[in-house]
Amino acid sequence: MNFKNNTVFDCSVIDVSKVHNEAGNITVIENGVNIPFSVKRIYYLYDIPGGESRGGHAHYELEQYIIAASGSFDVILDDGRNKKTVTLNRPNMALHIVPGLWRELYNFSSGAISLVLASHKYDENDYMRDYKEFLDFKK
Ligand code: TYD
Repeated sequence: MNFKNNTVFDCSVIDVSKVHNEAGNITVIENGVNIPFSVKRIYYLYDIPGGESRGGHAHYELEQYIIAASGSFDVILDDGRNKKTVTLNRPNMALHIVPGLWRELYNFSSGAISLVLASHKYDENDYMRDYKEFLDFKK
């Protein structure tokens, strides 16, 4: 499929909800229940040094949920025409990123953990790592 027409407005922050308990909360994400794709891979970013940024690429096919499992950070989304900045700071809020968007993660708080649920296994061929290549793809 070709996702070149996807825009930042196709991305949203979804409250995946939580089960509240006096002894602590639990959030559950289950295929077919509160996520619009099937999860094939989970990874998380942690020990991110102050001032660092991550991302700086787009995907042809990959769809993701990005969650601040701990701490906070900002995500800038870019479709080649529009940019949108989203702050993630609650473990029950998931940013749904559709395929075909440039993204950058920055402003990580100390101890932040960025949990990513992904629709496909790791495939370097699915990455656009060059911004010009990305803009050409979006034309
Ligand atoms: P990358 O997705 O570029 O990181 P980020 O967007 O967080 O800055 O991945 C960085 C490196 O990690 C990449 O070159 C290869 C490796 N990697 C894997 O081997 N498997 C994975 O699932 C991911 C996400 C990354």
